[in-house]
Amino acid sequence: MATTASARPASSGRMAAVNEMTRLLRLLFEVEREFLRTVTTLVYRVGEPELKYLVCQHAWESAGHARFLRERGRELTTFGTQETARAEIKRLFDEAVGRNTDDPLVITAGFYEVLKPALLEAYRHYLKVTDHLADWPSKKLVEEFIADEERHLAEIKPWLQGVEAREWKLHLTQALDDLGGWLGQETRLPLAAGYVWAHQQTPFTHPATCNRGKYPVCSSVFGYDPTEDPIVRPWLTDPNTDARVIRLMVYVWLMMEMDAIDYLATVFYETPNAPFDLHFDLARHLWDESRHSQFGFRQLPKLGVDLMTVEHSLDLYNILIQMPPHERYALMTMEFEAGSFPTKAHVMDRVRELNDFEADTLLAFDRNDEQNHVRYGHRWLPEMMAQFGETRPTEEFVKATQEKFKEFAARFGGLTPHSLTKEKRLTGEKILKLAGVA
Ligand SMILES: [Fe+2]
Ligand SMILES: [Fe+2]
Repeated sequence: MATTASARPASSGRMAAVNEMTRLLRLLFEVEREFLRTVTTLVYRVGEPELKYLVCQHAWESAGHARFLRERGRELTTFGTQETARAEIKRLFDEAVGRNTDDPLVITAGFYEVLKPALLEAYRHYLKVTDHLADWPSKKLVEEFIADEERHLAEIKPWLQGVEAREWKLHLTQALDDLGGWLGQETRLPLAAGYVWAHQQTPFTHPATCNRGKYPVCSSVFGYDPTEDPIVRPWLTDPNTDARVIRLMVYVWLMMEMDAIDYLATVFYETPNAPFDLHFDLARHLWDESRHSQFGFRQLPKLGVDLMTVEHSLDLYNILIQMPPHERYALMTMEFEAGSFPTKAHVMDRVRELNDFEADTLLAFDRNDEQNHVRYGHRWLPEMMAQFGETRPTEEFVKATQEKFKEFAARFGGLTPHSLTKEKRLTGEKILKLAGVA
């Protein structure tokens, strides 16, 4: 041992114990950030809202792990200042995304039954090889992450029951074995010469529409005809509308933030060179929207609504997916979110008449979150524009994008027919009945 150490410069020998643990922290950071970048492609491909919500939650928690790993890593000298993951880690996550024709649950199994368990193993390895007193700060973090990872695997398990993914899992396992696990802690099993990287054959592209599983769909839930549409726009602001009607309509509105989940989730994969903090804030944004959608998804049945009668609106995803990511993000933050405050404020005042503490709470948190989302937009839109070589001033770019959206809405919007007849689906008229005012 003495001979090897003396062959290296004295300084690196002196700090060898720290440098080795920092190398592992760095790898763990890269795995978590790449997991976030790619697992988000599941969100719009899986159909069950509950599974979308769960993936959004895990994505957010993984972003948190990556952030803490980076903070701790930066306290140690050799962590490095750049944030890009090395090619062999990127490549494996690009592979895990699969193709857009694959069964999304098979792809989910690849993430959660191969890559995540390997991450859990990597954290356990870290804990085993580090000195618990010397490296106490990392130890405390890693202990928490292990508990999170175990919970993630348990939470996803019911969704993967009966999913036949053996072949795909073997394919990913081989690629992982080639690295010897995420930390290179196992014996490496080099890839067979004939191994084919699927993503190099067929690069992943987002599906043209998002998956809502068993639920009925339509183009839009906003309209003017109470016999056709559930959210009757003039009713939202009409002082004569009963507050109970407004409460039901706003829960439909919140539930439909599922479209924000689906189209925002597309942005991570397409911005592989974004600074990590951009993805961190997007992950928070995504998780917020998934909570907002859950507000509606959980409250509507309590107010007597059968969720199988609520059509899901697909227009926003279908239109925005035709536009590049920075335009999607510009419309989301600078148009849809920034523009929603006056109507929502009015809605909140009306709902307060009902003394429904839960509704008031949900709407207050929604408003608070939305204010943050607009802030994120101001911070990150210029950065995202730069990622795509957009050099116009932000304001000019946003204006032009708003115009482009109108054109694209005319071309790609309104094409999803109603799954249900107007007799069967939730409409303004039915909301009047459910609210007990008709
Ligand atoms: Fe929201
Ligand atoms: Fe939002």
